[in-house]
Amino acid sequence: MKAEIHCHIEGAAAPALALQQARKYGVDASTFLSDSRYLWSDFSEFLVCYDRVAALFRTDADYALLTETYLTELAAANTIYSEIIVSPDHGDRIGLGADAYLSGISEGIHNARDKTGIEARIIVTGERHFGPDSVIAAADYAARSSNPLVTGFNMAGEERMGRVADYARAFDIARDAGLGLTIHAGEVCGPFSVTDALDLVRPSRIGHGVRAIEDMDLVARLADLGTVLEVCPGSNVALQVYPDFDHHPLRRLKEAGVRVCLNSDDPPFFRTSLEREYRIAAEVMGFSEAEITGMTRTAVEAAFVDEDTRSRLLAQLDGAAALSPNQANSA
Ligand code: ADE
Ligand code: ZN
Repeated sequence: MKAEIHCHIEGAAAPALALQQARKYGVDASTFLSDSRYLWSDFSEFLVCYDRVAALFRTDADYALLTETYLTELAAANTIYSEIIVSPDHGDRIGLGADAYLSGISEGIHNARDKTGIEARIIVTGERHFGPDSVIAAADYAARSSNPLVTGFNMAGEERMGRVADYARAFDIARDAGLGLTIHAGEVCGPFSVTDALDLVRPSRIGHGVRAIEDMDLVARLADLGTVLEVCPGSNVALQVYPDFDHHPLRRLKEAGVRVCLNSDDPPFFRTSLEREYRIAAEVMGFSEAEITGMTRTAVEAAFVDEDTRSRLLAQLDGAAALSPNQANSA
């Protein structure tokens, strides 16, 4: 059984779906898609490619289709819970507007849940490279939202732009509104970005955070605080944060007592899937079934959901592990 708490909705668009959308809107996809592969070679180019793919989804129905397709695929891989990172800015930029964007995504969540039982929630994100004002506007939007699926706030995008302090106000707004807080840090930038996040945002979770491993005092601080790292190994290797899985710090972080879980980030962009992340953890990184189930449990424990839903998800997880200890994580 699987759960994830870090996947960007536009980043979940499979190349075949992106191509279908490009044809629908008469967009030349050859600048960002070739032979079923997204074209980018470093983090900056990835962000540009991401925005081009996002611009292929233009109506609430497009977003409902994207969301339902992704969640249905996750459910087929025995996933019981997913948190989807959504950016109202992308809805605004395409002329759809944040409300229709969110309502399409919500419809996709409901359709997938009706069909498969998968539970999902929405994390509104600001995009750092769109600037502090837009991140504050995203936080305002999330804080005002009456959509019960919106339960968290995040900041993604170009980590090298500005310092966390420039964006702290957005997190104050989201915190005051009772939203769960998580922030991308320690992915492209070093440990200082994780320290900034802990000092200024005080999140319960950090997106990636893996480069904290370069400062063992910081690792101890993460372990003491119980901050959960939403680790995305396939993304880190694809973006060349680490040369391969043998050099990835997931095991060292876990052994130092940091709470960690497995996530897919932007799966088709990185030629991965949540299923592959779990397989790599087992077969390449050598985690046992029990350790992997423990990471799934951590994802559910850290999920931005009401306590009834959390208890139900944990019971599902415990039931599956008790029934079939050797196959608890298989599809
Ligand atoms: N937006 C989508 N994927 C991202 C990532 N891995 N880091 C920062 N921003 C992102
Ligand atoms: Zn991410």
